[in-house]
Amino acid sequence: MRNVYLVGFMGAGKSTVGALLAEWLDMSFVDMDAAIEARANSTVAEIFEDAGEAGFRDLETQELRLLSSGSDTLVACGGGVVIRDENRTLLHASGTVVYLRVTAGEALARVRGDGLRPLLAGDAATLAPALLAARESLYENTADITMDTLGRTPEEVATLVLDAIRQGRG
Ligand code: S3P
Repeated sequence: MRNVYLVGFMGAGKSTVGALLAEWLDMSFVDMDAAIEARANSTVAEIFEDAGEAGFRDLETQELRLLSSGSDTLVACGGGVVIRDENRTLLHASGTVVYLRVTAGEALARVRGDGLRPLLAGDAATLAPALLAARESLYENTADITMDTLGRTPEEVATLVLDAIRQGRG
C-alpha cells in the first residue's frame, strides 16, 4: 500500500490518530518529529535552538525524502511539513495525504504549556491563529482527504479516516 501521511496543525492529533490507523491498516507507523529527533540525537526544541527553523526544515525534508521512497508506512508529519514546495510534491507523489483539521483555539488547548513547540513559544494565543491562517490553504491543497477533528475523539477521527481511505477518496 502507498504511504499515508497525516498533516495538520500542531495539536490536531496526528500522532494519536496515526498510531491507531497504522495498527488498523497493518502499516508501519512513523512519527516524523520522533524520527528526526532520533537521527539528530536531539529534541526538536534543541534543533531549533542550535540550527534555527531553517536547519530543522532541512532535516524534515531529508526525512521526508527517505520516507517517500518507501511504502506501507503511515507517517504523522510535523505541522510545518507543507511549507516547502518540495515536501508538498513528495507527499502528493508518494501517498494519500490526510489533513486533520483543528481550530487554533482547540490546538492551543491541546498543546498548551507542554513547552515542546518552539513556534508557539511566547504569545501562543496570538501566534497560533496567525500561523494556522497562513498554512490553511497549503494543508487543504495538499490533502486528498480532509477530516474535521473538533468534538471527536481520536478513535472517531481514525474510524472516519479509515472509511474515507477505503472508499478510495484518497
Ligand atoms: C511544527 C510542528 C511540530 C514540529 C515543529 C514545527 C510546525 O510538530 O515539527 O515544532 O511548524 O508546525 P507537531 O505538529 O507534531 O507538533
